Amino acid sequence: MDTRWIRGLAAVNGLSLAVALRRPANLRRFLATIWHSYRESAEIGLPGRFPLSFLFESGRASFDPGDRIVFPPILEGGGGTATHELMHLAAIAHVLKPDCIFEIGTFTGLTTALFILNSPQARVITMDLPPDAKTASGDYISTDIDLIRSREVAHYLGVLGLTGRYEQLFCDSFQFDPAPFENSVDLAFIDGGHHYECVVNDTEKTARMIRDTGLVLWHDYGGVGDFLPLAEYLEAIARRGKIYKIPGTTLAWATGKELKRALGRVNSAAGA
Ligand SMILES: C[S@@+](CC[C@H](N)C(=O)[O-])C[C@H]1O[C@@H](n2cnc3c(N)ncnc32)[C@H](O)[C@@H]1O
Repeated sequence: MDTRWIRGLAAVNGLSLAVALRRPANLRRFLATIWHSYRESAEIGLPGRFPLSFLFESGRASFDPGDRIVFPPILEGGGGTATHELMHLAAIAHVLKPDCIFEIGTFTGLTTALFILNSPQARVITMDLPPDAKTASGDYISTDIDLIRSREVAHYLGVLGLTGRYEQLFCDSFQFDPAPFENSVDLAFIDGGHHYECVVNDTEKTARMIRDTGLVLWHDYGGVGDFLPLAEYLEAIARRGKIYKIPGTTLAWATGKELKRALGRVNSAAGA
C-alpha cells in the first residue's frame, strides 16, 4: 500500500495550511523540512554522526588549527545541495586528503568545484548523463527529470576557470562499468538519479570503487515523497554495516569498509 499520503497528512498543521494558502508552490519543501526535522528530533532513521569527528578521532585525519576550506564567491549551482552541506563536503575533501574523488551527478558542477578547490592534489572524476540526454533509463522521479532537462553540465566549473582540473564522464550510471576504478576511490559522492533502482545501482557500483579506508556520501537522505525509497534503502542496508547521517543535513555517509559490510561483501565482525 502506498503510505506516502499518510505521512504527508502527519505533517499537516496550522503552519502548513498557512503556507499552502500563501505560497502553495513552497508547500512541498516546507513539508519536507518538517518531516526531516521530526525524524531527526525523534531520532528515527540513521544515527547522527559527524564524519569530521570520526576522521579525527580514528586518526584518519589530523586536525591542524591553521587549516582552512575554500569557497568560491558565487555558489550558484542549482543542484539542490544546501550551503551548509557544501561546507561539510568541502571540509571532508580537505582533511581526508584523498588521491581520488568520484562523483555521480555533476549537474552544473558546484559540488565538483568544491572537491577540486579543497583537494587540489586529488584526481577528481565526475559523471553525468550525456549532455543531450533528456531522460534516462528507469523510473525517474519528477524533480530528477526536471534537473536532467534543465542542466548545463559543468557550466559552473567553466565560470570558475576549473576546466582541465577534473575528468568528466558522460555516461548513464546504469551502463557504467566500475571495473577500471576498483578499490581506487577515497571519497565518493552519490547524487545522481534518486529513484530506488538508481540509488541501488550507484551505491553498489560505488562500493566496488571505494577503498576500505575511503568515505562515501549520499545526498538527499531523509526526504519525503519520492525521496523515501532512498532513505528506506540506506536504512535497510544499515542493519548490516554502519551508515550515519550528518546531523542537520540530508547527507548520509559510511566508510568504504562499512558500506561493503552493509552490502554483504565483508564477513569480518571488526569495526570500521
Ligand atoms: C541533483 S543533480 C547533482 C547536483 C550536484 N551534485 C550539485 O549539488 O552541484 C543530479 C545530476 O545527476 C544526473 N543523473 C541522473 N541520473 C543519472 C544517471 N543514471 N547517470 C548519470 N548521471 C545521472 C542528472 O543529469 C543531474 O545532473
